[in-house]
Amino acid sequence: MIGRRGIEIKTPDQLRLMRRAGQVVAEVHRALTDAAAPGVTTRDLDELARDVLARRGAQSSFLGYGAGWGYPPYPAVTCISVNEEIVHGIPGGRVLAHGDLVSVDFGAIVDGWHGDGAVTFGVGDLAAADARLSEVTRESLWAGIGAARLGGRIGDISAAVEASVRAHPENYGLLREYSGHGIGSAMHQPPDVPNEGRAGKGPRIVEGMALAIEPMVTRGSSEGVVLDDEWTVASSDGSRAAHWEHTITVTPKGLWVLTALDGGESELVARGLPFGPLAD
Ligand code: MF3
Ligand code: CO
Repeated sequence: MIGRRGIEIKTPDQLRLMRRAGQVVAEVHRALTDAAAPGVTTRDLDELARDVLARRGAQSSFLGYGAGWGYPPYPAVTCISVNEEIVHGIPGGRVLAHGDLVSVDFGAIVDGWHGDGAVTFGVGDLAAADARLSEVTRESLWAGIGAARLGGRIGDISAAVEASVRAHPENYGLLREYSGHGIGSAMHQPPDVPNEGRAGKGPRIVEGMALAIEPMVTRGSSEGVVLDDEWTVASSDGSRAAHWEHTITVTPKGLWVLTALDGGESELVARGLPFGPLAD
């Protein structure tokens, strides 16, 4: 059902299908994190993700995305963004090297319902400042997740992400040109979920909404530049970047992180937040 402001309200059964899509996303994150090593190409990782989709009978949210609106259709099932690349890196012949900071963004469709999520990891050992960047970005994602509650506002999430990143003295760059989004029978739907904003503002958070929250943070500039391939967004100053994303919903019992292997239980409990999955 399409509710106010064009926001799609999902039934419990539709959310259960989104959870299945989210589990495929989590499985791909795990598989690619484990497989990434010096000498492996980003195309090798994309092929592993295709294998998981085939095994699970799922489709890609990304492959062919953008066709028909003047962009080159997206040619892969993953976005793999290395070092100063922030998001939308196209997998290819690039060979991963020790110390690379890699983000994998992936979306899956099960029976027409989407899940979307991103993780950042290192190839071998990361420089301490890069590991910290990724941790700060991940923490800001969970701060945003933790700010979502029924009757609250989208701005509560945005403000929490922003405050979390700004709580550190490093002057991280928080991208504002790109946002999280509603998600459901399409990958990108209203409402936008910005990574900065004011608590108490924006659309109300209601049962049946599903939201992709996705902070993108750099060690320097908050500006991205689109490279010649027309997709890859890199930091304008060459500083390294991290990107973390989950698809979530809010039930009367609490939060359900559809793209986490455990539905978010361990992270939510550790933060004193209510874990509220729907029963099968
Ligand atoms: N998953 C990205 C997002 O989080 C979008 C991927 S762009 C695509 O919104 F072209 F690869 F699909
Ligand atoms: Co997304």
